[in-house]
Order: sequence, then structure tokens, then C-alpha cells
Amino acid sequence: MSKDLHAVILAAGQGTRMKSARPKVLQEIAGHSLLAHVLDQQARPLGAQVHVVYGHGGEQVRAAFADDESLNWVEQAQQLGTGHAVAQALPGIPDEAVVLILYGDVPMVSPDSLRALCDAAREGELAILTVEMADPAGYGRILRDARGAIAGIVEHKDADASQRAIREVNTGLLAAPAAALRRWVGALGNDNAQGEYYLTDCVSHAVADGVEVRAIHARSEAEVAGVNDRIQLAALERACQASIAQAVMRDGLQLIDPARFDLRGRLVAGRDCCIDVNCVLEGEVILGDDVRIGPNCLLRNVRVGDGTRIEANSVLDGAEVGPGCTVGPFARLRPGTRLAEGARIGNFVETKQARVGPGSKINHLSYVGDAELGAGVNVGAGTITCNYDGVNKHRTTIEDGAFIGSDTALVAPVNIGRNATIGAGSVITRDAPADTLTVARGKQRSVDGWKRPSKKKDN
Ligand code: UD1
Ligand code: CA
Repeated sequence: MSKDLHAVILAAGQGTRMKSARPKVLQEIAGHSLLAHVLDQQARPLGAQVHVVYGHGGEQVRAAFADDESLNWVEQAQQLGTGHAVAQALPGIPDEAVVLILYGDVPMVSPDSLRALCDAAREGELAILTVEMADPAGYGRILRDARGAIAGIVEHKDADASQRAIREVNTGLLAAPAAALRRWVGALGNDNAQGEYYLTDCVSHAVADGVEVRAIHARSEAEVAGVNDRIQLAALERACQASIAQAVMRDGLQLIDPARFDLRGRLVAGRDCCIDVNCVLEGEVILGDDVRIGPNCLLRNVRVGDGTRIEANSVLDGAEVGPGCTVGPFARLRPGTRLAEGARIGNFVETKQARVGPGSKINHLSYVGDAELGAGVNVGAGTITCNYDGVNKHRTTIEDGAFIGSDTALVAPVNIGRNATIGAGSVITRDAPADTLTVARGKQRSVDGWKRPSKKKDN
């Protein structure tokens, strides 16, 4: 039977360099907080019980994960070092367990590296994740003995010149058997350059105990990169998006430029979909087969049917678009929009809580809100559903085959009957009967002999 795994996520750091009111681990990449990445991509997939060590802004962090009752929150009131942070969590962890230390601000560690750490710890070893860095300044250096075995870790501030030349550094992530870790952490002192309890000193304790210390090598610096400021946050955002783009392309999605694609949620795409440059996808986006999305589109919580085209510069939020539709360019579909098969929404059209029936068209410069349109309806340019009286919202219904002339105001609540025609420029305040032309505008007249005013001479 495998030993229970307990992950301790260190998340008490202030993140001063972010210059933010938000605690660092709540800063986001790819639409999710750093801590959510660590939980969902690292701790959870390993089946770990999770302990989060929080400090600065702790209430905000806890509130952000309030629905997750499986988390054990451990307060570290004063940040006295990484060893002190881990010590706060250890009382909640049984001796037989394996403990994995994760950082709340290091979001992209691969499951393979973590599994290798845990496997070594299950064998009774102390496993530390290390990486070769081009510029190791600031990091703890890995000290090795003459045989190449790990002898200890020296923090940058405590290191001498020859130690500072070492490029193998400590990422801070490690795994160890709980009983041994408890012993080593209990013996930590703070007699060092920073006056902190260094978790890294466990390494020399393990060596003294005759426990093997194993280095697991991270694949790249990017895998173990942490976030201290907004520059690193932006760099990690790009790294994360690059790996997301590769994953979606491996799944068969065509991206015209993977460097100009941002997914901040979950995407499910059918076969032969293509996304042009500078699109942002948020929440849950589900595309059928052969969907094409033009450049500069934002899709948030959207479902799109087979063969539909979303043209450039369109914004779709909370919309359900059927198959064979055309949307945009420059369309805005707001929440509650549902387009049936073959519907067309053109430029500068805004829809909200609107059902548009099969084959219906709203092609130019219109607002359609709180409305239900049947099949084969044609809404002319500049049509407005006047759905709001300043207090309440009212509905507009337009039945199958109706034709709404350009520049019509439909003052809701109102119904336009089947195959009705509305003359251009009408202000429709009462229901319009089926199969009939309804016109509601001033009658045109021409005034014979009328003269334009002329400029008076004496002023
Ligand atoms: C630590 C390691 C160093 C390693 C580096 C990698 C120690 C002594 N040093 O450096 O060898 O190269 O990480 O980034 O462990 N934290 C707490 N409570 C504290 C202190 C820190 O929760 O009292 C958390 C921070 O929020 C952060 C993590 O622990 O997530 C690491 O802390 P940080 O100060 O960034 O690392 P260093 O101690 O500088
Ligand atoms: Ca750090």
C-alpha cells in the first residue's frame, strides 16, 4: 500500500514587489490564481491531502477557496523562514506519511518531477528538486562532496565566492518521509545571515542521519520559475500560454499564431477548427467541428455549433451559437443570446437575452434585447428593441418570416406577427398583425413655394 501523501503549500509570503492589495498567491496566470494552479495541477493530481500555510492577506486567500472544504489552512503569523512555515503544518501530518513541499508562487512544475520526488521519499530518501541556472544569484546553492553526493544547501546570502559560482540551485520543492522531516525541522536553528529557520538545513541533517539525499532535476528554469513581481508574472503567463497553445494544437486545433492566442479557462474543440490571431477565450468555450474564429475576438462561456464563422473583432459572452451561423465582424453577443442554425448577426449588432430563430438575420447596427425571433426573420439596419422603460425590462417577440424595416424602434412589450412587414422608420408601440404592412411614422409631405431663410442685411 502506498503511503499517504500530504502536500504542504507555502503561501505566507507577502509579495511586496507586486505592489498589490491582493496577496501574491491570488495573482492570476491564464485566468486562475497561482494557488489554484498549484492545487489543481500539482497537489490534486497526486491525490495529496493539502495543507496551505498562509500569512499575509490570509483571510482573502481563504475566502477565495471557501468552497473547498478539503483544504487544511495553517496560519504562520510571523514569517520566520521556510523551515518555520513547514513546522506549522507538521502537527497535522502523521508520521507514516510522505510530505511534499510546494510553493504557492511556483505554478508550472510538471507532474513528472513531482512524482519523482514523491517516489524517492517513499523509499525513505530526502528528495530535492534542483535546476541548473544561467544566473543563480539569490538562490540556495547545492553543495556536493568529492563523490558528487549532496552534502547541503547554502543560501546565497550565506555563501562564499566559490559557493556562489555553483549553478545548480535549490528550487525549494522537496519530498521526505514525515517522521524524519519532523525530526530535522525540529532541530533547525536560525543562526544565519537572515536570522531565519531555513528548511534547506534539513539537507545537512539528513546527511548527518545517513539518509540519502537525492536531487531530481527539473527540465528547465521555466518549469520551476516563481513569481515575485509583475515582470515575472507576465513572463510566466506567456510560458503558460505557450504550453496551452501546444496542447490544443496537439489536440488538432489550428492556431494561426500560437504566440497570439490566450486561453483563460477550458476549451473543447471539434475537428478542423481554426482560430486566427489575438483571440482570448475565457471560462468554458465549446466549439463544434469546422468552426472558424477571425482575428481579435473575445469568447467567454460560449458554445458554437459546427461550421459557424465568427468574424473579426467580435465579442461573445454567455452565448449559444448554433451550426452554420455567421457572427460579426464587430458583433457583440451578450449573455442569454441563443442563435439557431444558420442565423446571421452582422456588424455593430448587440444582442442580449435574445433567441434568434433559424436563418434569421440581424445584419447591421441594431440592438436586440429581451427578444424572441422566429425563423426567417429579417431585421433591418438600425433596429432597436426598446426593452427598458427606465424601471422594468419588457419583451419583444417577432414571429416567423417577419420583415422589420430599417431604423425601427420596437417599444416593448410588443409582438410582431407572422410574415408581418414593418415600414422603415417606424416607432412600433402596439402589436403588429400577421401578414400585414404596419407603418408608424410621420407622413411625408412637400411644401410648394417654400423658401430658405436668407441673411438679414442690417445686423
Ligand atoms: C528559498 C530557499 C532557496 C531556494 C529558493 C527558491 C530556503 C531557506 N531557501 O529561498 O534555497 O533557492 O527558495 O525560490 O528555503 N514562505 C513562507 N513563510 C516564510 C518564508 C517563506 O510561507 O516564513 C514561502 C514564500 O511565500 C514562498 C516560499 O516560501 O512561496 C519561498 O520563500 P522565498 O522567501 O521566496 O524563498 P527564499 O527563502 O528566498
Ligand atoms: Ca523566492
